[in-house]
Amino acid sequence: MIYLTSGESHGQELTVILNQIPSGIAIDIDYINNELKRRQSGYGRGGRMKIETDQAEIVSGARFGKTTGAPLTMKIKNKDWQNWTEKMAVLKKYKIPKLTMPRPGHADYAGLMKYYDDDIRNILERASARETTAQTAAGALIKSALKENFKIEIFSHTIAIGNIFINKSYTLDDLQKIYNDEVLRCIDKIVEKKMIDLIEKTKKRGDTLGGIFEVIALNIIPGLGSFIQYTNKLDAKLAAAILAIQGIKGIEFGAGFDGVRKFGSQFHDEFDLSKQKKIIRKSNNAGGIEGGMSNGCNIVFRAAMKPIPTLMSALQSVDLEDCKIKKAIVERSDVCVVPAAGVVAEAVTALTLFNIILEEFGYDNIKLIRKRYFDKLKLLEKKYKFSFYN
Ligand SMILES: Cc1cc2nc3c(=O)[nH]c(=O)nc-3n(C[C@H](O)[C@H](O)[C@H](O)COP(=O)(O)O)c2cc1C
Repeated sequence: MIYLTSGESHGQELTVILNQIPSGIAIDIDYINNELKRRQSGYGRGGRMKIETDQAEIVSGARFGKTTGAPLTMKIKNKDWQNWTEKMAVLKKYKIPKLTMPRPGHADYAGLMKYYDDDIRNILERASARETTAQTAAGALIKSALKENFKIEIFSHTIAIGNIFINKSYTLDDLQKIYNDEVLRCIDKIVEKKMIDLIEKTKKRGDTLGGIFEVIALNIIPGLGSFIQYTNKLDAKLAAAILAIQGIKGIEFGAGFDGVRKFGSQFHDEFDLSKQKKIIRKSNNAGGIEGGMSNGCNIVFRAAMKPIPTLMSALQSVDLEDCKIKKAIVERSDVCVVPAAGVVAEAVTALTLFNIILEEFGYDNIKLIRKRYFDKLKLLEKKYKFSFYN
């Protein structure tokens, strides 16, 4: 299955097409819209979030609430479009001043050079993270399919905003409780207050923040992915999908970079057996992936998001029209979007895992795919006399 997004930040609408999506997937439009709402939430978002409440509309590839196997198209309208009909006119030409002072940290400058263009608007409209709305909608459909058919659940939460980090262990119950949290989706409410305070102070200065979020995928069977070629490794695929999210600069699995401080005897996750005869590990420093494949533990990774590059106190730029040093352009912008980026990461994680399942268990109908998936588990359980689920 591949998915393609289209649409500009202030264009008429966003579109996502999922090609080779299996038939029979139940579509829960409320669930998809709730994921879109989660992507729009979070302390530190800009004015745009107040203008629009994103709603997905499915226009092809579904009938009577289920996918048919035909390319599935979802559209999300940009409600702000009505204020941009001239600036973003598709055919008619209006006299609109060009944007010529690129913002450091954005695609503005490299994009102009790449396309031999002279108006940053032509670059920023597509480079904008508004695209992540379409990814979130596609990922939401697949996320609910993963839960319903394969018991796989995906969560994310905020670990750090700027230099303020959580320092508290948490349970899955904690993650479930904050799933729809609209503040910062942080499990530590005392630290969250400090984060909010930092966002407020930063906003007052016209500055911005980045941070770290963590993603956890549960009920993963061992053996998803491959050790055979670099193109099929699960960690490489997840890393590529996560690093492609606007603003994401790093990813670490399990113990991550901190793991290098440990000895091998401390780092590697020893095997054990649960009371229910399930193969378990004494720790999960590998983040659920060994040798390019899932190892049956939860998949756990953290991603680092750079500070938002549109600053209200604009940074220095060069006006490409007259080659003079000026301030960079300022567009309406968020101050901090780490929790929203976490929601996008949940979506692309779902799409990545689903694709790996399809590669191994087939493409056509979700019931058939599910049958092959659980038949394999039954065969393994019979062969090895242990179970995969508690
Ligand atoms: C959900 C989300 C919302 C974002 N909102 C903004 C924003 O309002 N203003 C901005 O300058 N950057 C925003 N960004 C970040 C930029 O899109 C990103 O820094 C930029 O595209 C360059 O990132 P790159 O260097 O990783 O490609 C957002 C990112 C995400 C994931």
